[in-house]
Amino acid sequence: MSTPVKLAVIYYSSTGFSAEIAREIADTAEKAGAEVRLLKVAELAPEAAIASNEAWAAHAAASADIAEATPDDVEWADAVVFGTPTRFGNVASQLKQFLDQLGGLWAQGRLADKVYSGFVTTGTQHGGQESTLLALYNSIHHFGGLIVSPGYTDAVKFVDGNPYGTSHVDAQGNNPIGDTTRDAARHQAQRVVRIATALKAGLAV
Ligand SMILES: Cc1cc2nc3c(=O)[nH]c(=O)nc-3n(C[C@H](O)[C@H](O)[C@H](O)COP(=O)(O)O)c2cc1C
Repeated sequence: MSTPVKLAVIYYSSTGFSAEIAREIADTAEKAGAEVRLLKVAELAPEAAIASNEAWAAHAAASADIAEATPDDVEWADAVVFGTPTRFGNVASQLKQFLDQLGGLWAQGRLADKVYSGFVTTGTQHGGQESTLLALYNSIHHFGGLIVSPGYTDAVKFVDGNPYGTSHVDAQGNNPIGDTTRDAARHQAQRVVRIATALKAGLAV
């Protein structure tokens, strides 16, 4: 029997929206048979900035027990799902800083031949969801990774409307993660596990 796919869900989240999607993806992947690590990246913002924003401070406290990702987690994984809030249409610097620590593994070719996928949250509609995911996926090409985007491979994709990855508009913190986003996250997680399982079995031959 084949060994389960090892999946790392590695995300940054200030106010908790991306964190909720990360958890949905991790839970679904576990139910789909994967061995899962749910990991946040290290915070870079000064304490004073965090303390000045109630939602940010609350989420920082609530997520204190989530382990921080290290490059070893990426090496361990057969598949990695990255998540980030958009920052001016781009990947949050905290997640980018994590990616920038992967140079050693990259130089040894150890980021290649894995499955990667991404999700994003924004404050506004058309606020940079697609540009953020495409910016994230630039790095995956450099890894030699295999991007498994959801495309329109499930009916939910015609509802959430983002073929690049699960996405959510938080409406300045006023729109909680709802069923559509959760369904999209579940579909993405199941698809990543399915394709990573096939890839892992194929590469083992
Ligand atoms: C510095 C900064 C830049 C942001 N840039 C954008 C943006 O370009 N477009 C947008 O829709 N939201 C933008 N946002 C809002 C966040 O991306 C959004 O609230 C996100 O859902 C927060 O996710 P989190 O709860 O996981 O931190 C920005 C927020 C900050 C702090």
